[in-house]
Amino acid sequence: MIVAPSILSADFNNLEQEVKKVLDAGADWIHIDVMDGHFVPNITMGPVVIKNLRKKFPNIFLDVHLMIENPERYIEEFVHAGANHIGVHKETCVHIDRVLSYIRSFGIMAGITYNPATSLCGLEYIKDKVDLALIMSVNPGFSGQSFIPAMCDKIKQARRILGNDKIIQVDGGVSNENIDLLRESGANSVVSGSYIFDAPDFSERIRILKGE
Ligand code: DX5
Ligand code: ZN
Repeated sequence: MIVAPSILSADFNNLEQEVKKVLDAGADWIHIDVMDGHFVPNITMGPVVIKNLRKKFPNIFLDVHLMIENPERYIEEFVHAGANHIGVHKETCVHIDRVLSYIRSFGIMAGITYNPATSLCGLEYIKDKVDLALIMSVNPGFSGQSFIPAMCDKIKQARRILGNDKIIQVDGGVSNENIDLLRESGANSVVSGSYIFDAPDFSERIRILKGE
């Protein structure tokens, strides 16, 4: 299980220390939630935050979740800032096949993300261009929301379509209460914001998510 803590729930006054702490506690990736105030009702961070993290942590895996309209306009900037994976929402891309190929053309991983009410329709036609499918288990915009159980069926369906080689990630409301179900459904990566960052001991919670 690849565990990707979302820094949206971190203490932004001490971002560098928070990232160091969560990596020392066993985090595999660092998940970065980019929101534009249009596609989702919240505004968060952009390439400059990623660039600074990359400067401080040259070798970590930066998992970038774009919740923005017209994501293709900004992909190059996020690549140069240091992203290792860029995921775009299906709902924001009319030409998703082209966008996924464009992301991969920079030599990084390409991901497709689905809102809770978006079906996986068409995934079979682009599966060769997808490294990661992200199933949102909350409506994107904020951390600390409740997990939507109906997403387990979607995870199973995504696993059936993509086979065993791809990453299926789940984001939103992930905790000790649903991690076993997520693993059984076929997820091999989870994002976690509040469950990890609200805890006094990050490592215990990361161990639980990893199933150790
Ligand atoms: C929601 C974001 C998530 C969020 C996760 O729009 O994409 O990454 O920060 O936070 P929790 O784990 O608290 O739901
Ligand atoms: Zn996210």
